[in-house]
Amino acid sequence: MSDSRQRLIVAVSGASGSLLGLRLLQLLNQAEGWETHLVLSSAAVLTAKLELNESRETFEALATQVHSNKDIGASIASGSFRTAGMVVIPCSMNTLSGIANGASSNLITRAADVTLKERRRLVLVTREAPLNLIHLRNMTLATEAGAIIMPPVPSFYLGPCSLDDAVTQMAGRVLDQFNIDVPGMKRWEGTAQEGGKL
Ligand SMILES: Cc1cc2nc3c(=O)[nH]c(=O)nc-3n(C[C@H](O)[C@H](O)[C@H](O)COP(=O)(O)O)c2cc1C
Repeated sequence: MSDSRQRLIVAVSGASGSLLGLRLLQLLNQAEGWETHLVLSSAAVLTAKLELNESRETFEALATQVHSNKDIGASIASGSFRTAGMVVIPCSMNTLSGIANGASSNLITRAADVTLKERRRLVLVTREAPLNLIHLRNMTLATEAGAIIMPPVPSFYLGPCSLDDAVTQMAGRVLDQFNIDVPGMKRWEGTAQEGGKL
């Protein structure tokens, strides 16, 4: 790599939970020594507008480098471009299917395929409910290929005060997968933290 910074590929697809992608980028933007390579699907841009009234530019302003999902020749489409891995947040069932079945028809699925073939860390924040058998099978396939399925489930045990708090917690736990520190993140310290009240 050109300097000591590490690279993380961040893909945002069109599943519900646009705020998760935005929050992860905000947290990552504050982390020292990380270079972010961002790809947004066109459905992600629509979902961000509908859920947050935010545009593509809001996400892009937080990334080091932005790639078009159509640019199959981008740096991150090659394994020779070294990265620490990739996260798809949120990950739609469509994108999950593409990744699980090795269909590299856009840059998100190609970069995920490369991440798996290079045995780098791939975290998929899959979002759908309820799940049908196809979704479940695709999650199994992706897991068998080395991906980490990490649905956006709040840490109820940490007592989030708001949805925003829960979103920050979930995005922070995704960054934990890459050993990226988020200052002030709540962590379970054992039942002793309850002062022996249990
Ligand atoms: C507001 C909104 C919410 C959506 N939520 C989900 C969802 O939670 N999970 C999902 O798999 N697809 C969801 N979709 C459908 C995807 O956006 C759609 O399947 C799209 O083709 C995914 O494309 P992509 O994988 O390229 O982003 C949603 C669509 C909209 C407009």
